[in-house]
Amino acid sequence: MARDILKTLKAEHDALRDLFAELEETTDRGVKKRASLLEDIENALLPHAKWEEKVFYPAFKERADRDGLKTHAEALAEHHAVENSVIPEVHAADPGTPEFAGRTKVFGEFIDHHAKEEEKTMFRMAREMFSPEERARLDEEYEAWKQSDAASALVAAEKTKANVKGTVKSMARH
Ligand SMILES: [Fe+2]
Ligand SMILES: [Fe+2]
Repeated sequence: MARDILKTLKAEHDALRDLFAELEETTDRGVKKRASLLEDIENALLPHAKWEEKVFYPAFKERADRDGLKTHAEALAEHHAVENSVIPEVHAADPGTPEFAGRTKVFGEFIDHHAKEEEKTMFRMAREMFSPEERARLDEEYEAWKQSDAASALVAAEKTKANVKGTVKSMARH
């Protein structure tokens, strides 16, 4: 089967949905399990989101009509809300608490909503905008980028940022 960036991104959404479903099953006593699932989620989500922001969204925007531009703005605003608010809230909670359970639930709901919008609207538009050859090339570029040092550095920086913002949020409450 031919490679297709849209299929890859969709498969990554599904993998994230599975991880969130697993996280939802944990209890307040499953501290280690929760911490490791959160780590898995971030390791899957951050490269996906950063590459969308760096490569896929700008390429989409360049060819978008007015509806497409609105879809692009909506998707980007959702990324910002997750990065600046949802993830830091999760980091401000101790994994052995109901706060963590509640906040990761919101995190999962946000991701599911965002992924659905991409799949139903943005990817549908992108299928018209990009030829099968272009989608295959984007898929190859994405795979190479994920293995690059630049990608690891970016993901590490995002994690640090989430922890710092989380610390600021938890201090603000005391
Ligand atoms: Fe996205
Ligand atoms: Fe996505």
